[in-house]
Amino acid sequence: MEKSKVLVVGGTGYLGKRLVKASLAEGHETYILNRAEIGVDIDKVQMLLSFKEQGAHLVSGSFTDHQSLVKAIKLVDVVICTISGVHIRSHQILLQLKLIDAIKEAGNVKRFLPSEFGTDPARMEDALEPGRVTFDDKMIVRKAIEDAQIPFTYISANCFAGYFLGGLCQPGKILPSRDSVVFLGDGNKKVFTVFMLHVFLNSDTVFLSQKGLEYAEQVGLIHYYHVCYEGCLTNFEIGNDAVEASELYPEIKYTTVEEYMKRYL
Ligand SMILES: NC(=O)c1ccc[n+]([C@@H]2O[C@H](COP(=O)([O-])OP(=O)(O)OC[C@H]3O[C@@H](n4cnc5c(N)ncnc54)[C@H](OP(=O)(O)O)[C@@H]3O)[C@@H](O)[C@H]2O)c1
Repeated sequence: MEKSKVLVVGGTGYLGKRLVKASLAEGHETYILNRAEIGVDIDKVQMLLSFKEQGAHLVSGSFTDHQSLVKAIKLVDVVICTISGVHIRSHQILLQLKLIDAIKEAGNVKRFLPSEFGTDPARMEDALEPGRVTFDDKMIVRKAIEDAQIPFTYISANCFAGYFLGGLCQPGKILPSRDSVVFLGDGNKKVFTVFMLHVFLNSDTVFLSQKGLEYAEQVGLIHYYHVCYEGCLTNFEIGNDAVEASELYPEIKYTTVEEYMKRYL
């Protein structure tokens, strides 16, 4: 496989640290943005040092210092951004727009992967408030990337990262309930997990209430609505401008739901 020089921005985060490990394991020359703001966060600092021991290069920089971003980007061919979406949603656009400006100025990047890793926002034009903010934000970032003519890959990971299947698709739960489960939807919708299996949600039980919820919870619940009630992850054909991961990586052995769920026993 052709090797790249990869910069991970957000490399100590939940997804970022896994991408750093994967990039190192694949033998790519791996760089991590060592944000000045990490300061004395000892867990992050120790993680960065451990990545350094494993061969990663730490590059100092900050989103408040444009030239530091340009300098870091000039070292690599590929930039992967994994900055947080959940806690800093409005920041996420601003930070990524700053990154895009820096990538544009650096002018050497062969591929940029923005912090997507969810539902494909281009298919969510009719999403409901307040959940649609997630998709609108990601479309602003996509437009900036495409306006700047930066080569890109958008990764739609759908229901992802242990947040859905383990909790049996119950909003706010990531461990399976031992007592009862409310099945969402009308029984006909399929949901994609990152394991590329269809999870059938069978029940007549309707569950959608936004009363008294925090904004972030309301946003999350709307996502469950689109996924489980509308089937937004499977109600389309992928088309020619995209490719399904199992076609792209046929060598990967996928985990069955049964195997996956054993970890919770
Ligand atoms: N589809 C799904 O189910 C699903 C699940 C999980 C995540 N995701 C997506 O994956 C992406 C990454 O999410 P995550 O859970 O890995 O995020 P995370 O762990 O919460 O945060 C990732 C990184 O964001 C950076 N960050 C946080 N606050 C920042 C700030 N104020 N200024 C600058 N950088 C900041 C930090 O980078 P440093 O390492 O530099 O400190 C942090 O490590 C998001 O787009 C998210 O929506 C999708």
